[in-house]
Amino acid sequence: MQTIVERHPGLTPPDRRAELLREPGFGKVFTDHMAMAWWRDGEWTAPRITPRRPLALDPAAAVLHYAQEIFEGMKAYRTEEGEVLLFRPEVNAKRFARSAERMAMPQVPEALFSAAVEALIRTDRDWIPSGEGSLYLRPFMIATEAFLGVRPATEYLFCVLACPVGAYFKGGAKPVTVWASTTFTRAAAGGTGAAKCGGNYAGSLIAQAEAIRHGCDQVVFLDAAEHRWIEELGGMNVFFLVDGTLITPPLTGTILEGVTRSSLLTLAREEGLKVEERPYDFETLKADAASGRLTEAFACGTAAVVAAIGEVRHAAGAFAIAGGVEGPVTSTLRRRLTDIQRGQAPDPHGWTRRV
Ligand code: COI
Repeated sequence: MQTIVERHPGLTPPDRRAELLREPGFGKVFTDHMAMAWWRDGEWTAPRITPRRPLALDPAAAVLHYAQEIFEGMKAYRTEEGEVLLFRPEVNAKRFARSAERMAMPQVPEALFSAAVEALIRTDRDWIPSGEGSLYLRPFMIATEAFLGVRPATEYLFCVLACPVGAYFKGGAKPVTVWASTTFTRAAAGGTGAAKCGGNYAGSLIAQAEAIRHGCDQVVFLDAAEHRWIEELGGMNVFFLVDGTLITPPLTGTILEGVTRSSLLTLAREEGLKVEERPYDFETLKADAASGRLTEAFACGTAAVVAAIGEVRHAAGAFAIAGGVEGPVTSTLRRRLTDIQRGQAPDPHGWTRRV
């Protein structure tokens, strides 16, 4: 696909870039360019790489009023040989299309999605950290039509940002503490829980703030109907190792179908683990932790990768998991995944794409 590239007239100087890449954190440092395509008159324009700059939006743009917005998160890695590998971009493209459908937005064809992401990576290739870091790509789409009636907009912007990143959590690889919220829920049956739309994250912020007030890194949501079944964290999926079986909540339409989640399910089966996608309730989690049947738990997502859960806090108390230290299954699965992502292990499933 033809991509127009408009180079930034004042690129970040190499020494400043090197300084920014030393400790990028998560989501704070951005590259010099972005990719954009517009939906007008029922079709997409070709993608365009432009300098990263503020957007000019009409204050009546539908996204500002009715939150017609979706996004994705994906990563590119620099290998030891200096190649650039993008992890499972076609899975993100398909999920983006499903999110678009749920939010009554036009679908971005996979070819356009990939062309935009890959052109941005090539243009800002010097921003990809080596070693532990990666380049986080943030494709998103917003409704730009200036119109205050409540109906799907007729104009949209598809945009991709790139961000060199390090660890998602401040504590790095240290096990995280999670807060089980009984006050707030994330998604109900028939709602937008399976779509990666900004509204889901906006709705999670108050629960995340509650988690932080209780000294936790993340919130764990329970289901909206019974306040009983574990669903997912504020922005990541969750796994439990019980009696040697790896359990993760099923995809019933209220949780996000994580790319990391699906990759770990495959890797866990390859490791010979018994894997179950099934409902797991909070009372059983407490009992399994108390009896020692629960030996590990971890959160996972593109941004967080795999983060061991060392402690769970809730309104009536707190309990540790595996003495608060990361267990061997969590470490093995993380290493298997990141070795493939960074080109340090064979990739039998063809998950990485050279850019
Ligand atoms: C991701 O893991 O890519 C996400 O979108 C989660 C977000 C909370 C950073």
